[in-house]
Amino acid sequence: MNQSLVILGSQWGDEGKGKIVDLLTEKVDYVIRYQGGHNAGHTLVVDGKKTALHLIPSGILRPHVRCVIGNGVVLSPEALTQEIRMLEERDHSVIDRLHVSTNCPLILRVHVALDQAREAARGNAKIGTTGRGIGPAYEDKASRRGLRVADTADPASFSEKVRELMEYHNFILTKWYRTKPVDVESMIEETLDAVSYFGTAVCDTVDLIHRCRRDGKIMLFEGAQGSLLDIDHGTYPFVTSSNTTAGGVATGSGLGPRHIGSILGVTKAYATRVGSGPMPTELFDDVGKHLAVKGQEVGTTTGRGRRCGWFDAVAVRHAIEVNSMSGICLTKLDVLDGLSEVKMCVAYELPGGHVVDYLPSGDEYLNARPVYETLSGWGETTFGMTSLDEMPKAAKEYVRRLSRIVGAPIDIVSTGPDREQTIVISTPFGVD
Ligand code: IMP
Repeated sequence: MNQSLVILGSQWGDEGKGKIVDLLTEKVDYVIRYQGGHNAGHTLVVDGKKTALHLIPSGILRPHVRCVIGNGVVLSPEALTQEIRMLEERDHSVIDRLHVSTNCPLILRVHVALDQAREAARGNAKIGTTGRGIGPAYEDKASRRGLRVADTADPASFSEKVRELMEYHNFILTKWYRTKPVDVESMIEETLDAVSYFGTAVCDTVDLIHRCRRDGKIMLFEGAQGSLLDIDHGTYPFVTSSNTTAGGVATGSGLGPRHIGSILGVTKAYATRVGSGPMPTELFDDVGKHLAVKGQEVGTTTGRGRRCGWFDAVAVRHAIEVNSMSGICLTKLDVLDGLSEVKMCVAYELPGGHVVDYLPSGDEYLNARPVYETLSGWGETTFGMTSLDEMPKAAKEYVRRLSRIVGAPIDIVSTGPDREQTIVISTPFGVD
C-alpha cells in the first residue's frame, strides 16, 4: 500500500480537492498541507452540511485524522485561530489533532496591506490576488527578512524583530504606495495573542512526518490552488507565490522526494479560473453562463465569480507531466448534463496560424486561441451516480476521450458534492 499520497489540482484551483481529500481520508492517518496559505478555499459537504476551510487540512472533519500545517505554508495566526474557533463551535476537536510547523513564515497584517496596495497600484495589470498577503509573505521569506512561527516563542525579541521589519515595510507603504502605515504595536499584540491560541500545536513537523513514515502511518499531502497557478510551471505572472505542483511536497513538508507515492490530480470536467491571466477556453456565451450557474462557480475565499470555459486538455496534460500524476479524479461532470454538445481544447492556435500542443509562455499564451474537438452531449442527469454502468453513453465517451487525450487514467469520478456521490474506479489504496 502507498504510504504517502499527494492530491493536488491540475487546473487553476477550485477543482474540488476538498471533497476528494475528505473522501480518501477515511483510510488515512495524517493530512498535510505543504504550500499556500489561507488563500485556499475547500468546501466540504458531509451529510448535506457545508464547511469551508482555508488553512486547516480537509482531513479535520474525520475524528481519527491528525492534521499538519507544514513549513511551506505561509501562516496567518489570526486566520488559523478563527478557523479553529469556527470548527470548535461545530463540535470538532482541533487543537489536540493539529500540528503546526515552527518554520512556517508568518503572514502579518502588513502583508495584507502590501498585497492590496500593490494590486491597486497595478490597475488593469492586476493579478487578481485574494488580497490575503500571500505574495508579500513569500517575498519576505525569499528575501530572508521574514519572521517564522518559532520567532514568537520569545515575545520580547519577536517584538524587536517586527519593529525592525516594519521600518522597511512602512517606508514602502507610505513613500512608494502613498497609503497609510500599519500600526506596529497593535500588530505585534494581535499576532502574539493569536499564536498563543494554538501554541500547544506548534512543533517540529519534519521530525513528526518522518516518525510517521517509519511507523507506517498513511499520509495524505493536500495541495492548495492548482498546478497552473504554480510560480514556476503556471501561467506566470498570473500565478500564486508558491510551488503548487508535486515538487512543493518535498520542500514544503520535508518528506524526501523518494518517499512520495502516488500523485492524484483533481480535474474539473470543464475549466474555471479566478483572477486575471490567460484562459484560452473561456466562454462569454450561454454555455459559459450554464457552467457558472449550474456549477455554482463562486470563489470560496473571495466570493468572486469564476471565469468558466470548456475543458482545456493541453493545460491539463502539462499539469500531468510536471506533477508525474498517476491518475485523475474528475469532478463536476454533472455540470455538463443537458448540453447538446461538449468541447475539449486539444491544441492552441498562436497568432500567425501556428498550431501547438504545449503551453506557450508569457504574452503568447494570452493570445492563444483554442482548437476544439467536439463530442455529443447528453440529456440525462449524471448527478449523484455511483457507478460507471449507470452513466449515459455520451458521458462515458467524454470521460474516456478526456483520459486518452490528457494521457492519464481516471481513478475517481465525482458526481455531486456529497461524499456518497462518487464513482470509485480505483483508489491509491487499491480498487474499492
Ligand atoms: P494569491 O495567491 O492571493 O497571491 O493570488 C494569486 C492568484 O491565484 C490569483 O489569480 C488568485 O485568484 C489565485 N488563487 C489563489 N488561491 C486560489 C484558490 O484557492 N483557488 C483559485 N484561485 C486561487
